[in-house]
Amino acid sequence: MSVSDISNIAKAAETDINSSADFAGLEFIRVKYLGRQGIVAGLFTDMRNLSQEERPGFGKKLNELKNSLTSLIKEKQASFKKASVIDNAFDPTLPGVAADTGSLHILTQTIEEICEIFAKMGFSVIEGPEVETEYNNFTGLNIPLEHPSRDAFDTFYLKGKNGQQKSDGKLLLRSHTSPVQVRLMKSVKPPVAAVVPGKVYRPDATDASHSFMFHQVEGFLVDENIRFSDLKGVLDLFLHNLFGGEVKTRFRPHFFPFTEPSAEVDVSCIICKGKGCSTCGRKGWLEILGSGMIHPNVFKHVGYDPKKCTGFAFGMGVERIAMLKYGISDIRMFFENDLRFLKQF
Ligand code: DAH
Repeated sequence: MSVSDISNIAKAAETDINSSADFAGLEFIRVKYLGRQGIVAGLFTDMRNLSQEERPGFGKKLNELKNSLTSLIKEKQASFKKASVIDNAFDPTLPGVAADTGSLHILTQTIEEICEIFAKMGFSVIEGPEVETEYNNFTGLNIPLEHPSRDAFDTFYLKGKNGQQKSDGKLLLRSHTSPVQVRLMKSVKPPVAAVVPGKVYRPDATDASHSFMFHQVEGFLVDENIRFSDLKGVLDLFLHNLFGGEVKTRFRPHFFPFTEPSAEVDVSCIICKGKGCSTCGRKGWLEILGSGMIHPNVFKHVGYDPKKCTGFAFGMGVERIAMLKYGISDIRMFFENDLRFLKQF
């Protein structure tokens, strides 16, 4: 038993520690050297056999050995811990983290539901640009120059490059999806039946029921001998599909420049079933869409012969429908991107 034995043991222990491959192997080595029955403990016991003079020097070396092995083992443990964190990232046996798949926005879902009902009746689903000409948005739809909706307070007008204007008027952000009627009828001959979902823009101050941008679905059908009863039948079927077979529908005379005759269409209140509540303003009816027989002037603008063809058109606000269907009280919720709201649908 001598000091040189200690340095041999130190070398052997270092080799053992360095070559250990994992926590379990290292623990085995720790117990072998530093355990209660281990080599170091054995050497402390053996000190009894040394002379009084030898003991302090040997004891000091032995303590140094114990401390250096302890810190070597700690270092090695730390290196395993680091590696295991990295390994764990790829551990295929761990339960997986569920992927956040997301879902369609409630407005997209509502648009799809509306369009699907019409698609089943044979309508095509088409889209048009959000930047429109003044002609398509107004003139082609028989909306006269002096109509208040053409005022800059009610429509976002755009300045062309270097203030240039197109021959068919200024450019603007469309204030409704109806201009796609003009676009499609100019490019195809009747019969035609289409629904047009999309964004529209109006310079309204934002509040619980107004937004400068919202969504509409426009629809129209043109052929020979299309009658008001066709309009009623199609919209009746649509509203029953959307709100349930039990709702009643009501066609109220109204005025739109692009249809004649025109009607606003109501459904019996889906909240109070027609009895009268705060949602329907105690009327028992909810206004859902505008509609009518396409005005002969619109046909003239697009090059259709008003003596030969007739047709109907309708337009509805998507936010309003979603708010009624899902009991949403503030239009701003659709656009704030608050996941607590969006995740409910
Ligand atoms: N364009 C109208 C609006 O934005 C909605 C509308 C009403 C469209 C009647 C139509 C219609 O096609 O016939 O308020």
